[in-house]
Amino acid sequence: MDKFVITGGKRLTGEVTVSGAKNAALAIISGALLCDGVCVIENLPAINDVLILQDILTQLGVKVKFADHTMQIDPSGLNSYKAPYEMVRRMRASYYLMGVLLTRFGRFEVAMPGGCQIGSRPVDQHLKGLRALNATIENVGGTYVGYTDKLIGNEVYLDVVSVGATVNIMLAAVKASGTTTIINAAKEPHVVDLANFLNSMGAKIKGAGTDTIKIKGVDFLHGCTYTIIPDQIETGTWMMIAAATRGDIRINNVIPTHMESVSAKLTEMGVTVEEGDDYLRVSAPEGVRLRPVNIKTLPYPGYPTDLQQPITVLLSTAAGTSIITETIFESRFKHIDEIARMGAHIRIDDRTAVVEGVDKLLGAPVRASDLRAGAALIVAALMAEGTSEIYNITHIDRGYENIEKKLLALNADIRRVPAD
Ligand code: EPZ
Repeated sequence: MDKFVITGGKRLTGEVTVSGAKNAALAIISGALLCDGVCVIENLPAINDVLILQDILTQLGVKVKFADHTMQIDPSGLNSYKAPYEMVRRMRASYYLMGVLLTRFGRFEVAMPGGCQIGSRPVDQHLKGLRALNATIENVGGTYVGYTDKLIGNEVYLDVVSVGATVNIMLAAVKASGTTTIINAAKEPHVVDLANFLNSMGAKIKGAGTDTIKIKGVDFLHGCTYTIIPDQIETGTWMMIAAATRGDIRINNVIPTHMESVSAKLTEMGVTVEEGDDYLRVSAPEGVRLRPVNIKTLPYPGYPTDLQQPITVLLSTAAGTSIITETIFESRFKHIDEIARMGAHIRIDDRTAVVEGVDKLLGAPVRASDLRAGAALIVAALMAEGTSEIYNITHIDRGYENIEKKLLALNADIRRVPAD
C-alpha cells in the first residue's frame, strides 16, 4: 500500500494531457465483446480499472492485448456466461456483462454488485430494461441468473436517469430482434461514445446524447478501430488543481463542450477559463480568494457528481459560504471529514453541504475513501500550507493514469512512498 506525500502552497504551471475516459473505456471494452470480428480500441487510459477489466475478459476466454494505450480484443474465445462475486467485487462495471452475455449466450450468472462508499447504487433499472427485452432474471443467493430464448426490442422508460442502465440496455438491444427505445436515457459523453463505437461496428443506434435513444437490432457487428474520448472528469480535476493552486495550466486533449457546467461554475468563482478547440487554459489570480458559489449535481449536462468532491475542497477557502447539493448519490460527502482535519468548516445536512470559507487549509494525514474523494484530497493537499499524507491511494490509481508524474511536470511537490 502506498501513500502520497504532498507539500502544498506551490503554483502549478505548464501543460498536462488528459488520458482516455475511464467510464467510456469500461463501457466500450464491454461492448467489444459483442463483435463478430476483432476490435482495436485506442486512447485507453492505463488505469487499474482497465487492467482489472482486461484480466476479467481474459478469465472469460477473450483474447486481449493491451499496450501503449491500445487494446486489441478478439471475443471469439468467450467461453463463459458467469461473472462470480470475486470478479464483480473487483469491478462494479462487470454488471455490463449482463447485457453482453444475454446477447452472446442468451443467459448470464453475474454476482450482484455491492454498494460502495458513495451510496447503495441499486441496479433495478438495469433489470427493468433487460426484462423488457424478454429476459427473465432472478436473484439466486446473491447472484443474478438471467435467461432469454430471444432478445426482443421494446420501449423502456427509465424511472431514474442512469448511465449504467442506459449502457446495459444498449448492449442487450444492439443485436435484439426489432427496435428498442430507451426513454429518459442518460446523456453523458461516454454514453454517446459507446453508441458511436457500436455504430462503427455496424449497429444502428440513433439519439445518443438525447433523452431518447433508438436502437434497431442488427445480426452482425464487424470489427473496427475506435478511439475513445478524453476523460471529462480528469479534465475537471486539472481545472480544480489550476484554480486551487492559483496556477496557470493548459489542459490538452479536451472536448470543451463536455466541460461547460464546470467552466461556468469556475468562471463564476473568479477563475479564468480560456477555451481552445481541443484544450482549456485555466488560471486564477494569486493572493485573491475565490468567490463562493452554489453547486447542485445533476445528470449531464448538469454539474457532474464526480466533480462535486473536488469543487467542495476548492470552495472550502472561498470568501464566503457555498451550498452544495448532491442529488445523485446519497453519501458522497465522506471526503468532508478528511478535509475538516485540514481546517475546513463544512456542515452536512442530508444531501446538502454548507461550506463556510476559511482563510486556508493546513496539511495533515488524510485517507481516501473512494476514487473522487481521493482526487479531492490531492486538490486539498496541493492548496494547503505544509505537508499532507494521503493514504489509500489505490482508489486514485483506479481512475487517474500516472497522476504523480503529471503533477511533477506541473511543478508539484509530490512523492509516492510505501505507507508505513
Ligand atoms: C456511472 O455510475 C459512473 N461509473 C459513475 O462514476 C458516475 O458517478 C455515475 O455514472 C453518474 O454519472 C461508470 O460509468 C463506471 P448511475 P452508475 O446509474 O452507472 C441511481 C467514477 O467516479 N440508480 O447513472 O452506477 C443511482 O443510485 C464513478 O468514475 C438507480 O436507482 O451511475 C444513482 O443515484 C463513480 N437504479 C443514480 O441512479 C439503477 O438501476 C445515477 O446512477 C441505477 C442507478
